Amino acid sequence: MRIASILENRNLEKRIAITPEIAKKYIALGCELSLSENYGEHLGFKDKEYRELGVKISKDDKEIINSADVIVQLGLLPNDKISSIKANQTLIGVFNPYDNKSKIDDLVKDKINIFSLELLPRITRAQSMDILSSQANLAGYKAVIESFASFEKAIPMMMTAAGTVPAAKVLVVGAGVAGLQAIATAKRMGAIVFATDVRMASKEQVESLGGKFLTVEGSENLETEGGYAKEASDDFKKKQEELLGETLKKIDIVICTALIPGKKAPLIIKENMISNMQTGSVIYDLAAVQGGNTAFTEVDKIVKKDGVKIMGETNILNRLPISASSLYAKNVFNFVANLYDKENKKININLEDEIIEKTLIK
Ligand SMILES: NC(=O)c1ccc[n+]([C@@H]2O[C@H](COP(=O)([O-])OP(=O)(O)OC[C@H]3O[C@@H](n4cnc5c(N)ncnc54)[C@H](O)[C@@H]3O)[C@@H](O)[C@H]2O)c1
Repeated sequence: MRIASILENRNLEKRIAITPEIAKKYIALGCELSLSENYGEHLGFKDKEYRELGVKISKDDKEIINSADVIVQLGLLPNDKISSIKANQTLIGVFNPYDNKSKIDDLVKDKINIFSLELLPRITRAQSMDILSSQANLAGYKAVIESFASFEKAIPMMMTAAGTVPAAKVLVVGAGVAGLQAIATAKRMGAIVFATDVRMASKEQVESLGGKFLTVEGSENLETEGGYAKEASDDFKKKQEELLGETLKKIDIVICTALIPGKKAPLIIKENMISNMQTGSVIYDLAAVQGGNTAFTEVDKIVKKDGVKIMGETNILNRLPISASSLYAKNVFNFVANLYDKENKKININLEDEIIEKTLIK
């Protein structure tokens, strides 16, 4: 079975799907590999390193695609490349099927097996393949680093002969995977951390990391069976607004991570709440990619409003592409290994396996 990956548009995506460490694992599994020339060059992985492992490196992306059984990528390939994929070939990546519906429908019609890994069920057996968790973890960490770097005061409390610098106060909105990593990172750097979520299950997790959980009075159970958030009622939103409005007056840095799968991100921090914040505060909105959690979030821009900096970043993982690629490539390898039929040396689409059934786009 030949597995291939070609370079994405490097201006938009710096991560790669096959690192040398993982190339070794595919080869040990019995697979052959093809990659584009300079595939990992920008991350310090030279073609020579891949070649020495037995990987075929080629200049011709179309030829790479044509000779592959399985193509592993990050996002959807551009039209001129995607048109080279033929029936019975398999494409694996994170294809955002809600936004790319028509393109993906065309590929399904052409009998291409497409697996989109954000659809993985969050069951124990799928944890090693869970790209949402591995990438959200890094995003939560990096959002704290970036917002702290942009904040013009110190983070930890410092007692000096010249006086005391107070510890910065951080609010994390949404305590899922990214939010919990943000809480842990901010705590490690000496901030006082508050967090809120619609899922009461996250309260204990926040507290175990040393954060103070802000419970919205009259919290409903807004958790789906799959562990995700449901859309909140108007009454809940009003109570959340009152609680956060008051809290935000004393907060220095906000990390927003609140998302509802397949929907626009909830608008949580409204205009009046921002105008009541202290000048110099920073909001880092990781939900920007789905519309943002604040009234002023703009994709990939820093907006200044009433002295508050609102940073909307859509691909924060490009700021730590080596760590992100390393985890992503491992997740994808574990997914492929689960699909691979070692005896017959080909993939086996066993729809009785929940992991395969849920990720295959039909
Ligand atoms: N294999 C596993 O068992 C596994 C793996 C990863 C995550 N999980 C669980 O999946 C769940 C979702 O995690 P995620 O980080 O991918 O979620 P996500 O990215 O969809 O959302 C981030 C967070 O925002 C919260 N949120 C949504 N709307 C909100 C609002 N209006 N106000 C405040 N908060 C709001 C959500 O509850 C969630 O905690 C969590 O329970 C997590 O523990 C399980």
